[in-house]
Order: sequence, then C-alpha cells, then structure tokens
Amino acid sequence: MEKLREDIRKIKEEFKKGKTALIPALHRVVEEYGYVNEEGAKLVAEELDISLDHVISVASFYQFFKLKPVGKYHFQICTGLTCMINGALDLVHYFNRELGVRENEVTPDGLFSYEIVQCIGCGDRAPAVLMNDQRLEGLKVEKLSRLIEELKAKGDGSPS
Ligand code: FES
Repeated sequence: MEKLREDIRKIKEEFKKGKTALIPALHRVVEEYGYVNEEGAKLVAEELDISLDHVISVASFYQFFKLKPVGKYHFQICTGLTCMINGALDLVHYFNRELGVRENEVTPDGLFSYEIVQCIGCGDRAPAVLMNDQRLEGLKVEKLSRLIEELKAKGDGSPS
C-alpha cells in the first residue's frame, strides 16, 4: 500500500495537475490489485485531491478499467453482428457450460472470466476476442477449448 501511495505521488508529480494524473494512477491501481478496488480508488482520490465520486465515475466510464475482480485471463468476446454470425455465442456458451461462469464472474481457481463487448475492429477475422491485451481472431470454440486447457496447464499467461 505504501509503495502504491508513493507511485501515485510520483505520477502526480510527473503530470503536475491532479486530474491529468488520474488515468495513469488508475492504471497503477489495476497493476497492484488487478482491478480498481475501493481501497485503491480512495487512495487515488486522496493523493490527487479529487473526489472519490469523480475517481469512480472516470473508472466506470472506461471499459478497460474493471471495478470488480477479473480472472487472470480475462476474455472480451465481441458480439457485433459479424462475430455473432460467425459463432461468438458458442464462445459465450463455452464459458457458461464448460467453465461454469456467467459474464463478469470468475472461475473458482481465479483463472478465467469474460465479458461481452461490441466490435473491436477485426470483423474480417470473426469471431474476434481479446484475452487481456492479446487479440485472438477467428477463435472457434474448439480453439478456445484448447487454449483454456493450455492456460490451465501453464498458468503463466502466455499461450503457445
Ligand atoms: S463485429 Fe466483431 S470485431 Fe467487429
């Protein structure tokens, strides 16, 4: 917690104006906790001298900030029209049936979660998915299943 506080102070110093530093400070909280938790949000508000409501509203606005814990491997499944036609719902059903999680729930081992998103700009390789920061294109359910098994075995975040 003290290291996080120290880093947020450095970010504030770097950006000079409190609100400019907000996004990088929130990224630092995510690095620390995996999501923007209450403790982190309060610390950011305190250190940048802005209201907690503002911190929460900014964190809520951007899809890349999560306000709830996500799995170590968080999947964003596009359900835009092209991806839908090409089997995006099969991927959603895989998470529901095979991993036993609904949207924004985390598997008991803490490894996997998913959310549904709209077009991520690669409909020509549908269905398209983001796994953390990695784009997965043409991801059919068989390929997803193999990937999940690999990640369960490896647990280190780097699919082969
Ligand atoms: S419709 Fe899925 S990436 Fe655009």
